Formats: sequence, structure tokens, C-alpha cells
Amino acid sequence: MTRTAVEYAHHQRIALVTIDNPPVNAINLAVRNRLMELVREIDLDPAIDAAVLMGAGKVFVGGADINEFGRPVEAPTLPEVIARIEGARKPWVAAVHGVALGGGLEITLGCRYRIASPDAKLGLPEVNLGIIPGAGGTQRLPRLIGLAEAIPVIAEMKTLAAKAALALGLVDSVIEGDRTAAAVAFAQTVLAKPLPALCIERPLTDLPSETWSEVGRRIEKAAKGNPAPHRAIEAIRHGVGHGIEAGLKQERAIFLELRGSREAAALRHLFFAERAAMRPARLREIAPLPLNRAGIVGGGTMGVGIAAALRGAGLPVILVERDAEAVQRTGEALENLLAARARRSGDPATAALLMRDVTLTTSIDDLKDCDLVVEAVFEDLAVKRDVFARLDAGCRADAILATNTSYLDPRRLADGLRDPGRLLGIHFFSPAHIMKLLEIVPTPDTRPEVLATAFSLAQRLGKIPVQSGICEGFIGNRILRRYRGEAEALWRSGIAIEAIDGAMRAFGFAMGPFEVQDLAGLDISYLQREAARARGETVPEAPGDILVRAGRKGQKSGGGWYDYVSGDRTPRVSPETARLLSSLLNERREMASAEIAERLVAAMADEGGAIIAEGIAAGPNEVDLVEVHGYGFPRWKGGPMFYRNQQAS
Ligand code: 3HC
Ligand code: NAI
Repeated sequence: MTRTAVEYAHHQRIALVTIDNPPVNAINLAVRNRLMELVREIDLDPAIDAAVLMGAGKVFVGGADINEFGRPVEAPTLPEVIARIEGARKPWVAAVHGVALGGGLEITLGCRYRIASPDAKLGLPEVNLGIIPGAGGTQRLPRLIGLAEAIPVIAEMKTLAAKAALALGLVDSVIEGDRTAAAVAFAQTVLAKPLPALCIERPLTDLPSETWSEVGRRIEKAAKGNPAPHRAIEAIRHGVGHGIEAGLKQERAIFLELRGSREAAALRHLFFAERAAMRPARLREIAPLPLNRAGIVGGGTMGVGIAAALRGAGLPVILVERDAEAVQRTGEALENLLAARARRSGDPATAALLMRDVTLTTSIDDLKDCDLVVEAVFEDLAVKRDVFARLDAGCRADAILATNTSYLDPRRLADGLRDPGRLLGIHFFSPAHIMKLLEIVPTPDTRPEVLATAFSLAQRLGKIPVQSGICEGFIGNRILRRYRGEAEALWRSGIAIEAIDGAMRAFGFAMGPFEVQDLAGLDISYLQREAARARGETVPEAPGDILVRAGRKGQKSGGGWYDYVSGDRTPRVSPETARLLSSLLNERREMASAEIAERLVAAMADEGGAIIAEGIAAGPNEVDLVEVHGYGFPRWKGGPMFYRNQQAS
């Protein structure tokens, strides 16, 4: 028998309609067609009094099928299906479990009743895909739960857990136990009662104009260059001003317009690239090793962030520092970080709980029971090799050893170990508890199960893993070097640094290349260059060398490329920098902001192309993920490789 996308059964006089379209029951054309047929069939069946709509497997419905978005719309559309359910003669009850997202939530809003399992989460994440809800979400949800509660769900990606949804009246009941039995019982009970109003029949109260202004400011700040959240508000307000019918029409028009937009194409590209990155096909058959306890060596900037990330994912952590003083400093830094994070999440008690499973020590022998140890000591080959020799001797034979090195060759760290097959690079980005990217850098000796474990760790940490081959700076820092080099070349050619930074901000980066250097500190790369010079390498004088020698290390010293007033991070054009670097500069000239951005993004894409050609990155998706998740490339532009392709088409 062939499987249908929607299963139909009945229990006594209650119809059971189950969307069964793995993996997330996305609503595609086949589902829509079958639902249309079933509404008609149920309406005409005198043996049926009501219908329950469910999802098979782990979730109710993960949304409309995103794969269809690149193609023309095919009828029946989801709004038509929902209108058909809404107009049905028999009441429909949506029974949600797992998630009801996007079109999945919208279809429930066409039903008379919504009930949810305690684990359920309901939301409208469409703006994350550069679109707005296109099947009535912007109109029906505000009528059901009120504008103030609906706006964060529609335009700001807020999801509601079952209990919160119940409190807001989004669901009528939270059901325990067997879902089907509870849903049937619910349907049977409500049959005896008068029908509640449909969402479209409910009145809607407008918000005061100050509240709309406040919403506008919030969205402006969060949306950055993604037009979708603004357009979602436009659709909501149209419905408020002109009524449900006009609102639904306007919503659909905006949805269809955005569905074909460049931003939506870029965000869809990343949606699929991210999911593909989590589970690379070549590792699907390889079982990861168990991870129950992690060690970290080095509790500086990165070690502390990595500890917070690992604790956040529930792993007990043992952190090794050099001496008692460093242990003390690391402990304080970690406590502060966890406390600040817990305060922001509104649950300050979690910081102490997380800290409870952190052991700080000066003895590397304390790592003997760890399943994984991440090394995050100074970026110095000899120091790191010494650490790995001691880890190799002291750790369990099956423990994984990872280096967080930014530039060093992991083969040189594995070299000489009893078992080089257990070492690989797991490159976190700063701040490590926040940045989503993990570059995973195996050596030719790294065993497949060690590699698979690094990917499963990323999943557990909620991060995006990208495998990189070995080269100076791996994927991300190599592209960064090229990007900065190109920015510097533009500056040398006479373009003002503030024009270059402004152009990259206008493109969508939070900061421009010179502002970022001032934030990170110019001294780090200066010291790297000095170290290379000390080894006898020829390293041409960089503007950063002149600035650092003049005491201008960036924000931390009150000035770098720019000047800073104490306690204020606003960059101010620096006459001192201009004077110091005047000999390197050509005559000032202007360049249009868009042209500057095109030049710099083209340089990133060129380097990305070279990296792919050399086999360092598997393909353009990997490069794009690195830039978006590790370096602030604007998400709605898809990454340098996607952007370049899109510009060319
Ligand atoms: N359409 C098509 N495929 C989808 C999908 C969707 N809406 N949602 C998930 N998938 C696919 C993924 O691509 C992935 O495929 P793969 O196995 O080939 O890589 C697979 O389902 C599993 O996805 P995840 O790895 O993300 O699985 P999780 O269990 O971690 O998460 C989820 C499940 C919470 C449903 C998550 O996938 C998700 O957030 N999906 C997107 C939700 C969304 O944005 N919905 C709105 C869609 S737009 C819409 O509904 C428009 C409407 O308003 C008209
Ligand atoms: P850091 O200088 O802030 O911290 C290094 C820590 O290691 C110090 O606290 C030091 O006391 C400790 N340490 C040194 N030798 C040790 C030893 N033998 N045993 C125990 N502890 C020891 O450096 P940071 O920035 O945290 O960098 C660490 C590593 O992470 C480097 O390899 C760096 O290249 C890499 N990295 C840094 C990033 C950043 O933005 N800072 C980003 C990604 C990687």
C-alpha cells in the first residue's frame, strides 16, 4: 500500500486526520490536496460529528514546506485549506504536540479548538526565512490572543510553550497522557457545548500609538536588514485598520512578494545549509563516542567561554590553569559570565547550579576521567605541544584531545602522541558561549568516530559545525586576513577608514573592519608579526605596527585606528592616526559605499573560492556558514559565496 501524506481514521463519531509527512509533517501540495478532500468527506459523512487534526511522529507540523518556496505557488494554497476547515460544518480540533510552527500554527487557527501536549511549542518563525506568515497568522493570532501578545510571536520569533499558550487562550486545554485518546475525549466533551467563535469572528482592539512606536523601535533594532519583521507589522496593522478580509489579502500579497525576494532566498539557503552541516552525509553511519565529562586546559578568554558553553549543554567541566592565581582569576571570570547570562535569561539561580559542576585545578592529572579535553592555552607551538604530551600520558586512552588553536597546524600537535588519531581541532569563536560557529579540523590521522563526536558535540552545544582542512587560519581567519588586506589596500589608495567601515555597516555587518580591529586589539597581530620577524621571516611593516609602537592598541588603550573617549566605544576620526600613517597614504579620494562593500565582499568570495578549490572547505555552503556564524556576515545576504552568485544571476 502506498503511504499517503494524510492518514484518515475514525474513533466512534470522531474523525482522526493525521498529517504524516516525515520528517516534520511540512505542509506540501499533497497534504493540502488531501486535507481539502477530507474536509469535504467529513462534512458529508453523517456518521461523523467532529474532526481531530494531528501530526504523526515527533511533531505536529513544522510549517509550510520550505522546499516549495523556490517554485510557483500551486493550488489549493494553504490559506484556501484553512478557509475550508474554518467553513466546515463539523468542528475541527487541532491537537498539537512537539511543535506547531508557521503554517503549522496557522492551520490550528482555522480550527474551532486547539489543544496541546505539555511539551508543545507554538510559533511563527517565518521572519527568520525572510517572509511573513502567509496563511492568516498575522490576522487570526491577534484576534485570538490580542495584539500586544501576538506581535512578538509574529514579528520577533517568540515561541510559546503549551502552558503559556493556555494562559493566553491560544490553546483551550493542555492534555496529558495518550494524545489521541485525550483529543477524542476533548472533542466528545465539547460537542455538547455551544461553539466558540472562530478566530476570524473575534473583535480586535487596537494599541495606543505610543505602543506602536515602541514596537517599531524594537523591530528596527532587531531586524537589521531583514525587511520581513517590518512587513509583518504592516500586515497586522492593515488588518487592524481595514478588517480581517482586507488584512488577509494584504498579508498574502506581502507574503508572495517576500517569498520571491533576495533576502528570503538567502535565508532559505542558510536554513538548508545549516541543517546539512549538522549531519554531514559521510558521518551519518558513524556512531559518536559518549561525552559525559569534559576538560579544558587554559582558562583565559577562550577557556572561560568554552567552559560556559559546555556547562550550558549540561557537561560537567574540569578546567586546568597554570597556578593558583590563574585558577582564582578564571573562577571569577567564569562566575561573572554565568551570572550575567543567568540574569539576562531571568533565572539568576542557574549560575550557581552551573558553577557547581565546574572543577578548577592546577593539576592536569585531574583530567584522567574526561571523555574530551579542549586545549585553549597560549597560541604557542611549544606550549601547546607540552600540554598535549602531558594529556597523552595522563588521559584515558579513549579520550578525545582537541585544540582550539587559531593558526597552528594540528598535525604538529598530534605528532609524537601515542595515539595521534584521537586529536583534532575544535575551533571556537569568541565569545565562545555565544558564537555559533565551530570549525572542526581533523588531521589525516583523526579517526572517523573522533570526528563524528566533534559534530555531535556541536549539535549538543547548539552550534554550527563546519569541517575545515588545514591551512594558515583555516577557513575563517584566512578569509578574514584577505578581507582586512583588501580593506587596508582601499585605505592606502586614499579611501577614508570611516568610509570603509560605514560601507560595511551599511552592507549589514555590525562593525567595519577597522572598528573590529580596534575592538579586538591591534597588539595581537602585531605580536604575531613580531614573532615571525624574530624567527627571521620577512614581514613587511603594517600600519598596525606603527600604531601599536605609538601606544595605540585599540579601544583598550583609548585609541587605535580611531580615538575613543573613556567609557565610550564610539569611534572618532583620529588626527593622530592620520599623522602617524601619513607616509603610507595616497591622496584622499571618494568611492561610493556600495562599491566599497562590493570590493570587500568580492575579496572574501575570491578567497572562499580558492579555499574550496584547494579542498579546505567542501563547498560554498561551508564558506557561507563560517562567515555568517563566525564573522558577522549579514544573514539576509546569505554569505559571500551565495551573495556573489545572486549578484551574478
Ligand atoms: N519545510 C521543509 N523541510 C523542513 C521544514 C519545513 N518547514 N522544517 C524542517 N524541515 C526539514 C529540515 O530541512 C531537515 O531536513 P534534513 O533532514 O534533510 O536535513 C529536517 O526537516 C529536520 O529538521 P531539523 O534538523 O531542523 O529537525 P529538528 O527536529 O531539530 O527541528 C523543527 C524541527 C523545529 C521543525 C525545525 O526543523 C524548524 O524550525 N523548521 C522550520 C520551521 C519554520 O520556519 N516554519 C515556517 C515555515 S514557512 C511557513 O510555514 C509559511 C506559512 O506561513 C505559509
Ligand atoms: P588567553 O591568553 O586569554 O588565555 C590563555 C590561558 O592559558 C591563560 O589564562 C594562561 O594562564 C593559560 N595557560 C597557558 N599555559 C598553560 C598551561 N601550560 N596549562 C594551563 N594553562 C595554561 O588566550 P585566549 O585568547 O583564550 O586563546 C587561547 C587559544 O584559543 C589560543 O590558541 C588562541 O589562538 C585560540 N583562540 C582565540 C580566540 C580569541 O578570540 N581570543 C578565538 C579562537 C581561538
